[in-house]
Amino acid sequence: MKYWKKISHTEQAERIDAALEINIDYKNKITLGIPASSLDPHVFYDRASFLKDAPLLRTYIQNPNHIGCHTLGESEMFFKGTQDIEREVIELLSVDVLKAEPESCDGYVASGGTEANIQAAWIYRNYFAREHNARYNEIALLGSADTHYSIAKAANLLHLTWYSVPVYDDTRMIVQEELDAALSRAKADGVKYFIVIANIATTMFGSVDDPSVYVHALNQHGLHYKLHLDGAFGGFIYPISHPDSRINFADEHVSSITLDAHKMLQAPYGTGIFIARKGLMEYAYTKEAQYVHGMDITLSGSRSGTNAVAIWMILMTYGPHGWFEKINKLLYRTDWLCNQLDKMQIAYYRYPKMNIVTIRAKHVPADIAERYGLVPDTHDGKTLWYKIVIMDHVEVEHLEEFLENLPATNS
Ligand SMILES: Cc1ncc(COP(=O)(O)O)c(C=O)c1O
Repeated sequence: MKYWKKISHTEQAERIDAALEINIDYKNKITLGIPASSLDPHVFYDRASFLKDAPLLRTYIQNPNHIGCHTLGESEMFFKGTQDIEREVIELLSVDVLKAEPESCDGYVASGGTEANIQAAWIYRNYFAREHNARYNEIALLGSADTHYSIAKAANLLHLTWYSVPVYDDTRMIVQEELDAALSRAKADGVKYFIVIANIATTMFGSVDDPSVYVHALNQHGLHYKLHLDGAFGGFIYPISHPDSRINFADEHVSSITLDAHKMLQAPYGTGIFIARKGLMEYAYTKEAQYVHGMDITLSGSRSGTNAVAIWMILMTYGPHGWFEKINKLLYRTDWLCNQLDKMQIAYYRYPKMNIVTIRAKHVPADIAERYGLVPDTHDGKTLWYKIVIMDHVEVEHLEEFLENLPATNS
């Protein structure tokens, strides 16, 4: 690990306080121009004694705005202290988790995985338009049928067609002939440029796509593409449970990656993360954003700097070994569940060393699924699968009780 290490709560508090000192102090410095201030002290009492032990809440109260992207160019100087922490988070994740070369990536803390995925699609649409003179109807999104619906949103927003490739029902892997057929169909539709979304891991199954399947097929068809990895769910698990994997920036074909700290990292909502190789963020530059110092090259405008501090605190509290232990505890529980399901001859899907178990709906009566909070693949009454996500709060005792309530199976 180049950057990631565990540090004590005291050291964290010192670092955060030093950052807040550098940020604008609305009480002691006259600041006439910015439409911002600290949280309203009549509502959010800023003298509460517990605040002295709560650096994150102190950051909330100061209310830094991290508008823009802080890994390149200039940024608003009012929030430089906490922007530095965000920069550290992006660099740590790029290098120590996603295997990029040091200082080879840009990124920012987005509102969530949806925004980060749309940011990727927006950058590549503009890239193909600018560098290849592509018309929007010549650019398409491509991914598996298990891909998150944020890509359908991106297609709608950006006026792009979304080609969804069927997967095998039992392995959730892309059907290569179907990929080939989708590419031929797209070519016949006049598409020349592809924005590929490969999953680490899918929302419903936790399955991980092999990006080389896309790379191979697109190369064979002689098509241009950019490859984005959606790690909104698996980005904080898969790299830990599969440390030798190259489904990250070690693969030269990968241009950008989405992570979501508000899923496995249990960070507050508003902690999606978008990371791209240097030289790409600029394609989302909005030249009209002239009142913002530096380049506004993110989909969100104003955004809370506290979110970056929250991610940083979680990473620093665990350190790489603590995080490894936590993930392995969840994988142990997942193994336990799968062993029991095997014994009970209940059919399910699980990607190796991931913490989602998706059970064939025929084994789970709807009332049991509802009582135990399982999530169906669809709410239209045609449920085929129910998923269990082994998060921190999902304990073996809970799984045991759920299994005890399942009817005996004949298949
Ligand atoms: C794989 C994947 N991508 C994207 C998203 C969207 O993330 P968010 O809800 O943070 O926008 C999700 C959410 O479940 C997801 O599982």
